Amino acid sequence: MEKSNEMKLTIESRSSNEGFARVAVAAFVAQLDPTIEEINDIRTCVSEAVTNCIVHAYKETLGKIYITVTLSDSSLVTVKIRDKGCGIEDVKQAMEPLFTTGGSERAGLGFAVMESFSDKISVRSKLGQGTTVTIRKKIQQRVRYA
Ligand SMILES: Nc1ncnc2c1ncn2[C@@H]1O[C@H](COP(=O)(O)OP(=O)(O)O)[C@@H](O)[C@H]1O
Ligand SMILES: [Mg+2]
Repeated sequence: MEKSNEMKLTIESRSSNEGFARVAVAAFVAQLDPTIEEINDIRTCVSEAVTNCIVHAYKETLGKIYITVTLSDSSLVTVKIRDKGCGIEDVKQAMEPLFTTGGSERAGLGFAVMESFSDKISVRSKLGQGTTVTIRKKIQQRVRYA
């Protein structure tokens, strides 16, 4: 598939940057003319993935979060969110709804939300090295009237 546009963003894992990441990705994807619902779905996925980097990957420390957004000429959005934090021991278990290592403040639904608001997510992780979450979502082509 031809690649048509790409942007990269590196942010520090501060919770004050979560909103910025969400808005920046949405602003970049806006050129595909998505519906409000499609853009909200992408925002929600970015929010969950970036929050996981902040609260789980880098827990008590600060680190960098690497975001890449690729738009293909067939309106497929690919968002890659990578950290160099603690990594996930068992990805399959981590992705199960309600599983959390975050105690009672966390719902354990982040991955379930990303799965339901995107077309496909994949997670690669290495303990002690970090995690990459890839979220794919197709923006529907609609008939437009001049
Ligand atoms: N980037 C990450 N780095 C390390 N661990 C992660 C990361 N993302 C998710 N996890 C692990 O996966 C679990 C499930 O994540 P999630 O479904 O978002 O639920 P929650 O964030 O509420 O715990 C987390 O509790 C954590 O153990
Ligand atoms: Mg989460």
